[in-house]
Amino acid sequence: MEKTKPSTAGLPVLAIATALAATAGTSYLLYRNGETWLRSLLLYLSRMKLARQVVTRFPPAWAVASRFIAGESVDEAIAATRQLNSKGMSAALDYLGESVSDAHEAAAARDQIRYLLQQIHASGVEAYASVKLSQLGLKVDENLALANLRTLLTEAKALGLRIRIDMEESALVDTTLDLYRRLRFDEGFDNVGVVIQSCLYRSEEDVRRLVNEGAWVRLVKGAYKEPPSVAYAQKAGVDAAFVRLAELLLSGDARQHGAHLAAATHDDAMIAAVQRYAAAHNLPGDAFEFQLLYGIRRERQEQLVTQGYRVRVYVPYGTAWYPYFMRRLAERPANLWFFVSNFFRA
Ligand code: FDA
Repeated sequence: MEKTKPSTAGLPVLAIATALAATAGTSYLLYRNGETWLRSLLLYLSRMKLARQVVTRFPPAWAVASRFIAGESVDEAIAATRQLNSKGMSAALDYLGESVSDAHEAAAARDQIRYLLQQIHASGVEAYASVKLSQLGLKVDENLALANLRTLLTEAKALGLRIRIDMEESALVDTTLDLYRRLRFDEGFDNVGVVIQSCLYRSEEDVRRLVNEGAWVRLVKGAYKEPPSVAYAQKAGVDAAFVRLAELLLSGDARQHGAHLAAATHDDAMIAAVQRYAAAHNLPGDAFEFQLLYGIRRERQEQLVTQGYRVRVYVPYGTAWYPYFMRRLAERPANLWFFVSNFFRA
């Protein structure tokens, strides 16, 4: 396993940690258009092979990453889900892995996710699976991803389970929604849902259509670095859009068509906006759910359950944890400081 290999790259580790520390230290001074240099650097590093090799071969990295990742095996993911279930929360299980480069890798990912579905069913935990189309071969051949997802949806349906398609970078949104609609409507899979990112200008139009189609939608802010030509550059724009889209997905129209909102955020302002709208419109408890990431704001997750809301936790697991981990660091400088100090302590 990558995480237990001894480091053979002391200097690159030091160089990256020093760069991160320096950048983290100055990042607060470098706020520009609501975006930090730090976030850009981390998102850039999340795609760099050398950085991945350096970070994942350095054992302290796993010490930090394991706060956000349930483990490397399905068994560990199921154990984490059991714990969440015992606290009144359900789960969305994510077998970590991003873009694959050939059909063989895509088939391997598909088989891992099929095994996950079987284990969810066999263990009886309350969970569904989340998948990325690039992991199922979208960038190799659209039809390959379609076929792999069809196989998974068929298996899930037979087991009484659902699958959510995660949303990736903006260049993949059209194809992702197109494949979703082919499976949902042309092939009749009613156990598939999608994700919409409030940072993208196009999302309001997408949501209006999904509302009419009675879709099962997870609403997020968006985790990818996008150009200002397609996405709001400032947090205020992303947040305002999140609230607008959440209200569309909770509207009477949406409910009449059978649409369902999963408001996926750790942001108290977004959570409060959804709660306010639900209370003002007397929405029943099953009209929506909150979703948060594994290991992030655990107390808040439990508090929402206590307050009577439905809560689902997104539980990532698997050996390919590096890009996911870097995106979480990009969202929260405090986590980065913890990571960098571990590097230096080691
Ligand atoms: P934001 O990052 O703006 O944070 C707002 C506030 O939340 C912070 O000021 C702080 O108070 C609190 N907070 C945030 N992170 C915290 C932390 N680590 N610790 C403590 N407090 C914290 N993205 C995507 O592009 N495609 C996808 O398919 C998904 N799927 C997905 C599923 C689920 C269940 C979640 C929760 C998120 C996603 N995302 C995603 C990621 C999403 O787009 C976004 O990057 C993160 O959720 C961060 O945005 P927030 O809404 O949490 O607010």
